[in-house]
Amino acid sequence: MSCACDIKKQIDAMIDRVGSGPEMAIPLLQAVQEEFRYVPVEAIEHIAANTEMTETKLYGVATFYSQFRLEPVGEKVIKVCHGTACHVAGAEGVTEELEKRLGIKDGETTADDKYTLESVACLGCCSLAPVVAVDDQISANVDRSDAAGLIDALEAETNE
Ligand code: FES
Repeated sequence: MSCACDIKKQIDAMIDRVGSGPEMAIPLLQAVQEEFRYVPVEAIEHIAANTEMTETKLYGVATFYSQFRLEPVGEKVIKVCHGTACHVAGAEGVTEELEKRLGIKDGETTADDKYTLESVACLGCCSLAPVVAVDDQISANVDRSDAAGLIDALEAETNE
């Protein structure tokens, strides 16, 4: 686990690399999220203290754009589409199966920080419903047993 001083050093390096002007809020927050998988409060405070941007502006950007997360997530984010087509095709059962296999509820992260499970709106490939995306890799026509297999495959991948 990084200490706050490590985070500050990393953020300083990002500011050097990306820039500190007021137009750099999005690229800086992207760099932070790439590193930590979310935007920690310490990062926002440190950027605000060392650039021309205020905490209010940074929070405004981070909450406006759905790409940014303000809460920590697991190494793999499993997104189950609950848009209309996927809902009708059985997304509820897919989420239930994943909750069972992972021992967490929708929206939570496993205790070992490996997986976050979340419901999302339409992923834009409704003809493949129900759809699950893991780190933007799409699985199509997922049923309960595919959902269980997906976790097995991810586990096998991380144990390689
Ligand atoms: S509703 Fe799931 S991809 Fe569109």
